[in-house]
Amino acid sequence: MKIKSIVAGLGLCFICHSSFATTVGFAQVGSESGWRTSFSESVKAEAKKRGIELKFSDAQQKQENQIKAVRSFIAQGVDAIIIAPVVETGWTPVLKEAKRARIPVVIVDRNVQVQDESLFVTRIASDFVEEGRKAATWLMSQPQAQQQCNIIELQGTVGATAAIDRAKGFNEVLAKHPQAKIVRSQTAEFTRAKGKEVMESLLKAEQGGKSICALWAHNDEMALGAIQAIKEAGLKPGKDMLVVSVDAVPDYFKAMADGEANATVELNPHLGGPAFDVIEAYLQGKKDIEKLIRTTGDLFLQDTAAAEYEKRRLN
Ligand code: AHR
Repeated sequence: MKIKSIVAGLGLCFICHSSFATTVGFAQVGSESGWRTSFSESVKAEAKKRGIELKFSDAQQKQENQIKAVRSFIAQGVDAIIIAPVVETGWTPVLKEAKRARIPVVIVDRNVQVQDESLFVTRIASDFVEEGRKAATWLMSQPQAQQQCNIIELQGTVGATAAIDRAKGFNEVLAKHPQAKIVRSQTAEFTRAKGKEVMESLLKAEQGGKSICALWAHNDEMALGAIQAIKEAGLKPGKDMLVVSVDAVPDYFKAMADGEANATVELNPHLGGPAFDVIEAYLQGKKDIEKLIRTTGDLFLQDTAAAEYEKRRLN
C-alpha cells in the first residue's frame, strides 16, 4: 500500500511492519533462459515467504512491454517497483514518473543509463565485465589457445548490459593474447533456439568450423543451442571446439559432465532476497542505501560438473 511509504518517509515507521501489506511490482525481462526462470522463481518465492503481494510482468524481451508494466504498477499505487531492464537506455521518462508518484524503484541485474541516479534506490547486480574476463582468462590458459585460436562469439541481446560488459571484459583479456581472435560474432538474443540457429550459420560461414578453437557464448542457454549445432556439423563440442559461457545453469552442468562444454562463470539467480531486503529497509525509512550491491560468482569446470548438476538440478 502506497500510504506505507509516505508514512515511512515522514519517519512514522512504527506502523510500517504490521499494519499494511506491501505490494511490489516486478517488471521482468522475460523467460529467455534457465537463469532468468530461476531468478523469477526466486523473486516469487521470496515474496510469498515475506507476505508481499507481487505483481509480476513478463516483458517477453521487449522494453516497451516493460515500460507499460511499470506505468501500470504506478497507476495501481504499488509500494515499490523492481525492474530487471532488457536494455540500458530509454528509462529516464518512466523512472521520473515513478519518482513523481513517490514509488521507490530497485534495479536488478542489467543496468539503466540515467543521468540522475536518484531515479532509483539501488542496483543489485553481478560484475559482468569481470565475468567476461574470467571466461577469457580460463580460455587463454588452455593448451589449445597457445597457438592460433579462432573464436566464435555468441552475443546476448543488443543493448543489454550483460552483453555489452561481458564482451568488454572478454576482449580486454584477449587483447593481451595476439594468437587469439574473435573471427565471427553475432547476437543470439540469449536464447537456446537462436544459439543453435546462429551457430549453424556461423559454422557454415567458417567452412564447417574445423579451424575454430572455441565458442564463447554470453550465456549458457545460447551455448547449449550452439553445442547441438556443433554436433550436427560433425564436431565434438568440448573437445574439437572448447565451449565457455556464463550462468551456471543445471543443463549446462550436465553438458560439462558429459564432456560437451568446458567452463562457465556463475551468475547468482537468487536475487529475490536482496531485492526485498532493500525495499523493506527503504520503506522503513532507511535512505543511505549504497547505489550498487554486488553479487559474485565463481568459475566452474568439468571436474565438479556432475556433483554440481546433482546439487542444482532440483533447485
Ligand atoms: O542479464 C543476465 C543474462 O540474462 C543472463 O546471463 C542470461 O541467461 C539472461 O538471459
